[in-house]
Amino acid sequence: MAEERSHWKRTHYCGELRSGNVGQDVVVMGWVHKSRDMGNLVFIDLRDREGLVQIIFRSDKAALIEEAKKLHAEYVVGVRGTVRRREAENKDLATGEIEVEAKELRLFAASKIPPFAVADPPQASEELRFKHRYLDLRRPAMQRNIRLRHEAALRVRNFLSGNGFFEIETPFMTKSTPEGARDYLVPSRIYKGCFYALPQSPQILKQTLMISGFDRYFQIVRCFRDEDLRADRQPEFTQIDIEMSFIDREDLFVVIEGLMASMFELIGEKLTLPFPRLSYTETMEKYGSDKPDLRIQLEMKDLTAAGKDLSSELLKNNFAAGGELKGMLVPGASSLSRGQLDKLGEKAKSFGAKGLIWIKKQDGFKSSLKLAESEFESIWKALGGGEGDLALLIADKKETGLKALGEIRRTWPQEKAGNKRDFRFAWVTDFPLMEWSEEEGRLVSMHHPFTSPLEEDIGLLEKEPARVRAKAYDLVLNGIEVGGGSIRIHDMELQRKIFGVLGLSAKETEEKFGFFLEALTYGTPPHGGIALGFDRLVMILAGEESIREVIPFPKTTSALCLLTNSPSEVSDRQLAELGLKLK
Ligand code: AMO
Repeated sequence: MAEERSHWKRTHYCGELRSGNVGQDVVVMGWVHKSRDMGNLVFIDLRDREGLVQIIFRSDKAALIEEAKKLHAEYVVGVRGTVRRREAENKDLATGEIEVEAKELRLFAASKIPPFAVADPPQASEELRFKHRYLDLRRPAMQRNIRLRHEAALRVRNFLSGNGFFEIETPFMTKSTPEGARDYLVPSRIYKGCFYALPQSPQILKQTLMISGFDRYFQIVRCFRDEDLRADRQPEFTQIDIEMSFIDREDLFVVIEGLMASMFELIGEKLTLPFPRLSYTETMEKYGSDKPDLRIQLEMKDLTAAGKDLSSELLKNNFAAGGELKGMLVPGASSLSRGQLDKLGEKAKSFGAKGLIWIKKQDGFKSSLKLAESEFESIWKALGGGEGDLALLIADKKETGLKALGEIRRTWPQEKAGNKRDFRFAWVTDFPLMEWSEEEGRLVSMHHPFTSPLEEDIGLLEKEPARVRAKAYDLVLNGIEVGGGSIRIHDMELQRKIFGVLGLSAKETEEKFGFFLEALTYGTPPHGGIALGFDRLVMILAGEESIREVIPFPKTTSALCLLTNSPSEVSDRQLAELGLKLK
């Protein structure tokens, strides 16, 4: 094959030829996308990374056209020919003004009939696409996504290194870092019974780099988490991991906002900076979510005070049981049918609420709740409602009301339509430091145990740890958490104390984090950082709904790699070498 190609050098990518090339002799190489045999003419659409070009074979070259008639989809060929202006222009194709009139053809490789056509949008199931990912990746949309991923990574490197950051690698074979998921373990052959953990994030090591004086660190880094998978979660995924010394939260926000602006320029978007900042409490109260989709205009209001004097027994009982009244006005939605309202009620119930109250103002008030006209008026006033509006209310425990109304808000259909290119970033700040985990029966870190508490809340650590707020922040975009970080604890004693509050014994603390606690005692600068979900950002840039569409070799939602068939069993010999025995 190398010989065949010896006097052939590609002169152009298929997709880059334009009318400016007319008259030139060119050599193009690629995959047969489509072929059309018209008897005395054969047309081939030849495809490479850059796009498609039409090749035309004419019957005046009898041997050549016979060869062309034997070509099928996904054959790999080279063509030498002359660029000509087409008789009929194809406006849908970037190369549509021209075609290449073939003078010579080389077949580099035939192809079996592919299990699915290499064409957008994909026709095959995800399972089949992943099994033959090499074919799936040939689709123009996938070629575009993977290229965009490369360009985004390049932007990150250029922007951050231009802002004084060093890209520094940290090991994959390391010790467990707590980020709330299970670890992937790697057994040690030399130290039988001992395991490395693949990092859930480089958290401890990037902080260690600050102790070492590197001041501004970043890494585009793979992280590994054994957790339930979804459209925006993979067992291995990529973070843009960042850490900075001698900064406060605002310094970091400015850097990240600049980085986002640079990345979104890739798709021609000019972001408005700075991004809004919302406290955790504010976002929970208004949107019922710590990752609000700010494209949706609906907002929740607390109606507990307005509802206290109302005559309804339901409300009275709710308040007596310590419940609150939360409401959300949906402007112009009074025309919703009973069926539609019942569906919303079902949704509220599926998120734990006892029910959903609705009130409409359309030629007077109509409601699922019995109240006097003046009582409706007072609720309407509190919500700022008008004629033609609908209000949805939940009388329940505060958290239940916020969550259920928040879900109704998040999935409100009309509001989202047509807003695909509307990018609403926000910083969510001042998260609780810890939350109660029913599963573990103890307080767990909301972010991770290295997050600094707010100074004014440190006094609460011992008596009311659940009320302590953290110097933690998330970056959210259109309802997706694209990043999370914090100002860290740089005082060893405080760090030790936090481990204690989280229920770690002195022995466990020493075993797991002894090295880090010691490092903290040798002169640690104040520092903080963030990690951005690179796959999620590229997904949004690409306009995709799943990060699997921007990862070249993703796992399925059941954590399988269908291409390589992993995970897979290993030989008894390998197990014996590692000192492992399967139960
Ligand atoms: P966190 O756990 O919030 O923070 O992760 C940072 C960001 O990484 C993305 N992400 C994921 N993306 C795809 N698949 C997953 N399974 C997955 N898990 C997380 C999210 C998330 O916001 N060490 C801290 C950061 C810090 O404090 O600096 C950390 O890892 O977009």
